[in-house]
Amino acid sequence: MTRSTLALALVLVLAGCGEAMLTPDGGGTVDAGSDVGWTAPPLVGPEGALEDTNPDPNIVEVTLRAELTDLDLGDGTVRPMMTYNGTYPGPVLQAEVGDEIIVHFENHTLGDTTVHWHGLRISDEMDGSPRIQEPVAALNGTFTYRFTLPDAGTYWYHPHVRANEQLELGLVGTIVVHDREDPVFDAERVIVLDDVLIDPTTDQIAPFLRSHPELVHGRTGNVLLTNGVVSPGVEGSARPGQIERWRLVNTANARTMSVSLSGATLRVVGTDAGRLAEPFETTRLVLPVGQRYDVEVYYEGAGTVALQSHVLALNDAGDDVIEIAMPAYVVNVDGEAVTPREIVWPVLPTPDARPVDREVEMEFDAIDDPVEGIQWRINGVSHRMEPIFTFSEGETVRMTLRNLAGPEHPFHLHGQFFEIEGRPGLYDTVLVGGGATVTILAHLDNPGQWMAHCHILEHAELGMMTEIVVTPR
Ligand code: C2O
Ligand code: CU
Repeated sequence: MTRSTLALALVLVLAGCGEAMLTPDGGGTVDAGSDVGWTAPPLVGPEGALEDTNPDPNIVEVTLRAELTDLDLGDGTVRPMMTYNGTYPGPVLQAEVGDEIIVHFENHTLGDTTVHWHGLRISDEMDGSPRIQEPVAALNGTFTYRFTLPDAGTYWYHPHVRANEQLELGLVGTIVVHDREDPVFDAERVIVLDDVLIDPTTDQIAPFLRSHPELVHGRTGNVLLTNGVVSPGVEGSARPGQIERWRLVNTANARTMSVSLSGATLRVVGTDAGRLAEPFETTRLVLPVGQRYDVEVYYEGAGTVALQSHVLALNDAGDDVIEIAMPAYVVNVDGEAVTPREIVWPVLPTPDARPVDREVEMEFDAIDDPVEGIQWRINGVSHRMEPIFTFSEGETVRMTLRNLAGPEHPFHLHGQFFEIEGRPGLYDTVLVGGGATVTILAHLDNPGQWMAHCHILEHAELGMMTEIVVTPR
């Protein structure tokens, strides 16, 4: 990005935020269903709930509707957008590991769509890949998604057809998969970080894929949102001594979120693939689009604890770009102190290192085609339709990911988890920075035909999309 386009983008961010209003968190407390002897911890998150219509405690059966909705993002303007069940972000799908999920999906929008369950290691037929599933038709098409939840953790769902438009317009939702073995917190918070590009002349969602920066860097919004509200529009409250689990999800089209915590220690307890064997403390977390982190937050005393988003902006003189912190989510801690509960994470065995069966390379670049315009590629091919690699179930594959062209590429592999060299935990999304090479160790344990792509939705839409096959043993 040249200095001037960067500056423009950031001026817009600041302008958007100046209008931010503080409104209370929609605070839908979601009932996970009441199994005898276990209740889900209180969950504070995006508005909107899914009603489980199945009496079986091990089955969660819900209806999910993609629809056209007029929404106010908290800045006083109502805009035509798209939602799941009327809210943005959509309702939290909450269940327990091992539960069977039945989603009666209805598409009431004007475009075909699918629902992809980002991070869930389910069967490829239920994965929402338009390469496998005939998209659900516009104007009342239906499809029933059915799968069993294999792993606890924080996941999310979104369309996989014209994803750059449908996600920006509001089709995103989160999934919380509980594990009964996890400690029970005073509360859990689902915090969805996003941004949106608003055209300053019309005050509407800007048209798609029109600007050169959007084609090159992906669509970076000029307004930051937390749980669908212009940030810092979400406020929570807690009492001194309480301990919570926050589940952070980045659902933006392109913006990598860089966050810190003020007023408390940032302690990471989970990654994309669920909880860590050994939690760790840090000062800054970087979430490329698609990524999740679970953090444990302890309110030591009265005051304010805030999740801060670090963004680039112009300095006062307007001649330099600096990093500034903007609160994304604020918790006011006051009232009578409580005795902190004892949070004991059951010891997880550190998994044995998996020997590498195979090594492959993926190179990310772009060409500027005189006819087609900018085409993003993986190993020299845009929109590759045949599998780039075929592996066998159970294989561990070292993938070397090389970014040969400019901006960053958050690489996402469907249906599998991987290790990122030098970092604890398992992931399904990894940031490959500008000019960088990153090595991951993929655990190819889930047979099927799986999309592999850059999660900057404009890059994916313009070709940075391929697939791998994992053949059953
Ligand atoms: Cu959230 Cu194909 O991805
Ligand atoms: Cu990319």
